[in-house]
Amino acid sequence: MKPILFAVLLGAASLVAQPPKPSNPLGDAPAVAESGRLLYNRSCTSCHGPDGGEGARGPALDFAGRRYFRVSEAAIFDVIKNGIPGTAMPASGLADNDAWRVVAFIRNIRATASDLVVPGEEQNGMAVFTGVGGCSRCHMIRGQGGVLGPDLSSIGAQASLNRLRDALTKERSIPNGYRPVTVTTLKGEIFTGVARNSDAFSLQLLEESSKLRLFDLSEVRSAVFSKQSLMPHGYDKSLSKTQFQDLLAMLSRQTRTKVKATLQGENEVGR
Ligand code: HEC
Ligand code: HEC
Repeated sequence: MKPILFAVLLGAASLVAQPPKPSNPLGDAPAVAESGRLLYNRSCTSCHGPDGGEGARGPALDFAGRRYFRVSEAAIFDVIKNGIPGTAMPASGLADNDAWRVVAFIRNIRATASDLVVPGEEQNGMAVFTGVGGCSRCHMIRGQGGVLGPDLSSIGAQASLNRLRDALTKERSIPNGYRPVTVTTLKGEIFTGVARNSDAFSLQLLEESSKLRLFDLSEVRSAVFSKQSLMPHGYDKSLSKTQFQDLLAMLSRQTRTKVKATLQGENEVGR
């Protein structure tokens, strides 16, 4: 018993002796992150891209870049204050408070929805998903639901909260594989769904019934693509405030394949 107790005490002592990791004294409120964005765009875009994107001489710092190594507030603060020795990343010369503002900005553009505490009731959100929201007609979560839209089982780990909110409230451009199409064959049969794949000779159409049809274009009279996504976008108005918030909370907690999603990135959405 005794040696173990000794080791535990020693461990505790060395924890106490370590200097505390600095944490952001300004917090991460939206206003702090916004002032950090302005500072960043003034001091860092000679190398990194605007708003944290990829730049000519520095890597992307935002979520889309996803190859960042420094994750904690303290580590990012350290990089901004001291640079990365042996690389082109210089010490910024920013005062501590300004450096913390930039830290808040970088953390903010990196966060996936699942990194944030999104208020709302997950269970009620799931009820909206399968009920009044009608989402499960087109989307699957953990094997339950439709196929016309992407599988959302790990959307919380893949998308930022803003992207989730935008998907539910705004008209956006349609990602590959989700363009609605109506195919009329030479025989006069009509099929509707989303175009999964198409080239000069063939077209693959996914129907709502989850049936995948492959058409040889020589047997097709017309294929009419729609510019409007099947994803409805007025859920902030058609759902109650509580329903909308519960739905967001539920989506933000879908993280079935978090590790895979973080490593492989956007392309995995819906696969
Ligand atoms: C002179 C060009 C240059 C400037 C100016 C610059 N950076 Fe960098 N930065 C780099 C390069 C290059 C790297 C990659 C270093 C490496 O190879 O690890 C980097 C890396 C970083 C990283 C680490 C990424 C990670 O997770 O590993 C952070 C954070 C960062 N920069 C933030 C900033 C901020 C904030 C500013 C402005 C205050 C800034 N940089 C200004 C060139 C620059
Ligand atoms: C009629 C079919 C349909 C319905 C109903 C529907 N969606 Fe979608 N949804 C889609 C399609 C198709 C896409 C992909 C194309 C796009 O993003 O516009 C999509 C995209 C999304 C995305 C974006 C995913 C990403 O990776 O950015 C989210 C989030 C989403 N839907 C959630 C919902 C929720 C929540 C509901 C219910 C409130 C819902 N959808 C209802 C078809 C639908």
